[in-house]
Amino acid sequence: MKPVKIGILGLGTVGCGTVSVLARNALEISRRAGREIRIAQASARDLRKKRACPMEGIQLVQDPYEVVRNPEIEVVVELIGGYEPARELVLEAIANGKHVVTANKALIAMYGNEIFAAAQKKGVMVAFEAAVAGGIPIIKAVREGLAGNRIEWMAGIINGTCNFILTEMRDKGADFADVLKEAQRLGYAETDPTFDVEGIDAAHKLTILAAIAFGIPLKFKQAYTEGISKLTRLDVQYAEKLGYRVKLLGIARRTNGGVELRVHPTLIPERRLIANVDGAMNAVLVKGDAVGPTMFYGAGAGAEPTASAVVADLVDVVRTLTADPNNRVPHLAFQPDALVDLPI
Ligand code: HSE
Repeated sequence: MKPVKIGILGLGTVGCGTVSVLARNALEISRRAGREIRIAQASARDLRKKRACPMEGIQLVQDPYEVVRNPEIEVVVELIGGYEPARELVLEAIANGKHVVTANKALIAMYGNEIFAAAQKKGVMVAFEAAVAGGIPIIKAVREGLAGNRIEWMAGIINGTCNFILTEMRDKGADFADVLKEAQRLGYAETDPTFDVEGIDAAHKLTILAAIAFGIPLKFKQAYTEGISKLTRLDVQYAEKLGYRVKLLGIARRTNGGVELRVHPTLIPERRLIANVDGAMNAVLVKGDAVGPTMFYGAGAGAEPTASAVVADLVDVVRTLTADPNNRVPHLAFQPDALVDLPI
């Protein structure tokens, strides 16, 4: 069978991680997908930059629109991040009949309703496992593994940068600004770290998780959002003395009136499992009526953990493409028409 040609938009931390994982595990990945996945083209702002990933056989271009308009490319992987031009590029890729894999939580949280509607109209897939909790397959876990449950609530540490900062402030007495710089150096933080430290990135991810768990449209603007930028190392250390850990939590739960979404620093008794999730690690607790409480743990940021989720989506999309067209499972996260509009 012919290889599936894909195009990557953005060769930053996650883009390069994706190129590396696809090259290193090519055999396993093509067996699982049912076809070889070949990166035909990739776009990057700086074409001359030295990259730590194998670029052989990949045509590098500066203009991302060349990738979304390339007739040979079946799947576009959007790893540019941010609202624009990511939104415009993804909508154009969909209009051109391409399937989309994205790690862009801001894009899905803010414009997902529009993007899913466009994809549904065009009959293409949009997959976004990497948008939430990095390498933890939480979207697939909630959508598929817990499909038989009525989800009651979920709560998670879903921003690696904040968790890394809070851990270093507690353990090393480090200053907020210094640890933030370190998180940026390690590739955890967003291009604009305000999104991390003000809780916006966690609210993007919570919005997406809640849409899948509760079958509600994406309602990012209705989430209560508070970050960690006002916390000092004394807050964190005093909490420790009283037997608590400070964690930035994203919480979504059913209420009598609908679904409540909130992100804020939370004191958690230190004996709790989630209180011991440190560094850039993420953890998501999900309570289903049948399964009871579950907890998913893993690396929430960084090149290869995020690439792991991007590649999982690619395998999913290619496997579906390769299946008998009469037998295809729709891979949109949800059918926008069928959403229950619970007020939040
Ligand atoms: N800035 C994000 C974080 C990256 O720190 O969690 C992964 O989404």
